Amino acid sequence: MKVLLKSAISPNGLISREDGQEDWLSSAGWDEFLEDAKIHKNIVMGRETYELVAKHYQDYNFDNVDTELKVIISRNFTAPAGYRVVKSPEEAIELAERAGYKTLLLIGGGKLNASFLSKNLVDNIDITVNPYILGKGRPFLWPGDYELKLELLSVNRASEDRVLLSYAVVKNRHLHKVRL
Ligand SMILES: NC(=O)c1ccc[n+]([C@@H]2O[C@H](COP(=O)([O-])OP(=O)(O)OC[C@H]3O[C@@H](n4cnc5c(N)ncnc54)[C@H](OP(=O)(O)O)[C@@H]3O)[C@@H](O)[C@H]2O)c1
Repeated sequence: MKVLLKSAISPNGLISREDGQEDWLSSAGWDEFLEDAKIHKNIVMGRETYELVAKHYQDYNFDNVDTELKVIISRNFTAPAGYRVVKSPEEAIELAERAGYKTLLLIGGGKLNASFLSKNLVDNIDITVNPYILGKGRPFLWPGDYELKLELLSVNRASEDRVLLSYAVVKNRHLHKVRL
């Protein structure tokens, strides 16, 4: 099972406004996300992502996404209809593995992304950089005690002046765990 982290970010590494709005991101990115959710058949998100997207986007939230398994990670949250709630990244991986999926599609937000990375659970990272800078907002990766070496796999220009960067996480160079 591979864990693929996918995110749309600003050049300065933000993924939403402080209040959770994503109005500055390309809507083509949402269409690409819908394709990914269909291909990988699962999506995994943090509790705040679920709640904020449901609050701001009544018509474009995760309820209507066509995918088999929708997972929210939270230490204490009651699963809404159509979703599974698990208490940790490891539990999400176990659930997706048991369901037979080859790839777990981790969609954020930044606190959950950091949690997966700090446990060295991510294999690939796809970032779409949107041409818009916000001075403040929620980060792609919450600060923490982790460092990872990446291998650049590809750079592609997407529509609307966006750039798609694909990386593999170099697993044996997880500096956190290496004696230097
Ligand atoms: N641009 C993009 O591509 C993109 C993608 C996704 C999300 N977003 C945006 O990101 C924002 C939310 O991001 P965020 O960083 O503030 O929050 P988040 O990562 O979505 O959610 C944080 C919550 O997830 C749970 N969680 C995280 N790590 C956990 C762990 N190891 N074990 C158990 N539970 C864990 C906790 O829930 P509990 O507090 O319930 O325990 C935590 O409070 C939203 O505004 C959303 O719109 C943007």
